[in-house]
Amino acid sequence: MDRLTLPTATRIAAIEIDNYRTKTFVLDARLDALPGQFVMAWLPRFDEKPFSLVSADPVTLMITAVGPFTTLVHQLAVGDRLWIRGPFGRGFDVASDQQRQALVGGGYGVAPLYWLAQQQAAKAAAIHVVIGARTKRDVLYAERFARQVPPVTLHITTEDGTAGTRGVVTDALEPLLASRQIDGVYACGPHGMLAALERLGTEHGVPCQLSWEAYMRCAIGICGACEHEGHVLCMDGPVLRTLQGMVAPA
Ligand SMILES: Cc1cc2nc3c(=O)[nH]c(=O)nc-3n(C[C@H](O)[C@H](O)[C@H](O)COP(=O)(O)OP(=O)(O)OC[C@H]3O[C@@H](n4cnc5c(N)ncnc54)[C@H](O)[C@@H]3O)c2cc1C
Ligand code: FES
Repeated sequence: MDRLTLPTATRIAAIEIDNYRTKTFVLDARLDALPGQFVMAWLPRFDEKPFSLVSADPVTLMITAVGPFTTLVHQLAVGDRLWIRGPFGRGFDVASDQQRQALVGGGYGVAPLYWLAQQQAAKAAAIHVVIGARTKRDVLYAERFARQVPPVTLHITTEDGTAGTRGVVTDALEPLLASRQIDGVYACGPHGMLAALERLGTEHGVPCQLSWEAYMRCAIGICGACEHEGHVLCMDGPVLRTLQGMVAPA
């Protein structure tokens, strides 16, 4: 399957428990997509919500239970159906001159970066992965990144200091930028985190690509749910070069 314009039934082939409120669902489907793009997942007569692709082959989604839809998805079992359409949006566009990369994820923002890290592993000279979370039990995908071959350098920050360094992702990234170890920053997480990263990137002259996962409904530029400053993030994003001017990667 290249691209699904209508919700299409898939079967859940495997489920992994990532933490107390996050599971990874592997579906029996394959898409033509890029890291940073997303799909809409649908449960008939209930709702439809966006999720980043952790992989397109097979389609894999990391889903944190935060409300009605995600709680219902968490009740599904292997063999159950989940409908998807997509992929949508613009993904990360890694420039060949950005050989030393920092991939920075907050919360479930880690999902698209795991795929990006795998894609870049063989191409990049060095990959630093910064995972930010509130507490130790909120840290996502640390074991997966730690198992990656060739290896990435992993930095974990937690707000309460229960895992990794106490603080936020910018605390781990700043010294890497200041010591000129990074050519490009790729990030996904809450808007406040992205804004702080953008400021830091500008300060150190390092380009950033920021995935802004704003509220979305239609994913095809019609409903306006994701509109900001005249741009629709479902099509012009979610990956942007700047939050201020809303510029997407070329
Ligand atoms: C492009 C994109 C990619 C996403 N990727 C993932 C992913 O990989 N894994 C994952 O678990 N979730 C992801 N999300 C978020 C997910 O779509 C929402 O959490 C979804 O609304 C959950 O539905 P719900 O009915 O369970 O909870 P809801 O009732 O919809 O939301 C629960 C709470 O989360 C808040 N919320 C919901 N969506 C957003 C948002 N976009 N920004 C800020 N706050 C929000 C609501 O205000 C509410 O307080 C992504 C969102 C977008 C736009
Ligand atoms: S989600 Fe409808 S316009 Fe973007």
